[in-house]
Amino acid sequence: PQGATLDADGGIVLAGLPAAELAAEHGTPVYVLDEQHFRDRARLFVRSFGEAFGDVGTTVDVYYAGKAFLSVAVARWAHEEGLRVDTASGGELAVALRAGVPGSAVGLHGNNKSDAEIARAVDARVGRIVVDSVAEIARVAQIAQAAGRGPEDRVPVMVRVTTGIHAGGHEFVSTAHEDQKFGISLAGGAALAALQEVLRHEELELVGAHAHIGSQIQDAQAFEVNARAMLGLRESLRAASGHLLPELDLGGGYGIAYVPGEIPIDVPSLARDLASTVAAVCAEIGTSMPRISIEPGRSVVGSTTVTLYRVGVVKPVTLDDGSVRTYVSVDGGMSDNIRPALYDARYTARLANRQGSTDTVRARVVGKHCESGDIVIPDIALPADVAPGDLLAVPATGAYGRSMASNYNLLLRPPVVAVHDGTSRVVVRRETEDDLFALDVG
Ligand code: LLP
Repeated sequence: PQGATLDADGGIVLAGLPAAELAAEHGTPVYVLDEQHFRDRARLFVRSFGEAFGDVGTTVDVYYAGKAFLSVAVARWAHEEGLRVDTASGGELAVALRAGVPGSAVGLHGNNKSDAEIARAVDARVGRIVVDSVAEIARVAQIAQAAGRGPEDRVPVMVRVTTGIHAGGHEFVSTAHEDQKFGISLAGGAALAALQEVLRHEELELVGAHAHIGSQIQDAQAFEVNARAMLGLRESLRAASGHLLPELDLGGGYGIAYVPGEIPIDVPSLARDLASTVAAVCAEIGTSMPRISIEPGRSVVGSTTVTLYRVGVVKPVTLDDGSVRTYVSVDGGMSDNIRPALYDARYTARLANRQGSTDTVRARVVGKHCESGDIVIPDIALPADVAPGDLLAVPATGAYGRSMASNYNLLLRPPVVAVHDGTSRVVVRRETEDDLFALDVG
């Protein structure tokens, strides 16, 4: 794990705390979040993008995409480090506001926002509501009007655009019409028409256009192609209506390393490449630079967290070809990390309480749920002496781990423990049976 060291027994030490101590104090499974590492990642984005775009004459706002993982502590750290917070629901909005993030530093997304969510965002005076459909524009205008907002006090709105550049993993594809639920298509002039529609509402202030093209993207070129498409749209709107969009949001989606050998997106060089693309295209068109915003989630929080599990049953299973696979069961699984089951996501693991033997077995790390697909890591070499009571550490579980956790089989969702300078602090506590019965009212 990033920032981890080893103690004399070969056990993992996180921010000065041995994994075995953390497990003894907080129980397992536990998400251990390195606060300094989170702050460093946040700062890296603010500094890299700020400098790169500053050099070409414009500014950048970095919105932390809270869907990756949001809690009051994390929202506060993000705000302290100069990030804004992107929310995708009333719940995420509530947590950001509870953390003391000013509404003006929060954005609201969602392809199917409720009236209550929109009203709450209007009421909190969020920095922008990103509308996702043409029908939503009139709804936001009506809710704004009902809240007493008008030409003197307009509600800032962005339009989510699908540029047809669709990326994920190692490749990106470019199609005209995308067959998916988000945004308004660039193709056929739909996005342009939506931007013009916003301009017709006196309660709304059109602050920009937004395009997020996918997640865990490793090919930085996809972001440049997306930026070009968005600058083209900005120019079309200027030509059609004389309105020059002040801001473009280029989304998030920057890939991180989950397993050895994977190459994460390099943030400073991505920032420089994007800044020079945006500057070059604006020069070609002969227009002034827009303000830029981005929305990274995974690449801020993903590498900050290690999940610690306790090993239970260790079961050798003889396969048809006569070989043996050792099933190593841990005390969590698909309820704390659904990503392997949902996306075939790959992770690595190592013993966390000791070095273990140098000879290894071919192992499969599995959870404790009543599903054969409840696999944390399908195939990994682990020390041959791995035994019940050992701890396993799975790094890079900060993004879409706790945030997508469930109660399946009525397991109690694990806590998030922040570690910093040799101290640990629970920032999201473990669920209890009382929590179950608080919901299940009989
Ligand atoms: N902005 C918007 C509008 C988004 O839809 C997303 C992610 C982000 C920003 C942040 O993307 P990131 O930088 O974290 O890649 N549950 C999936 C990922 C779903 C991402 C959805 N949208 C996973 O576990 O891989």
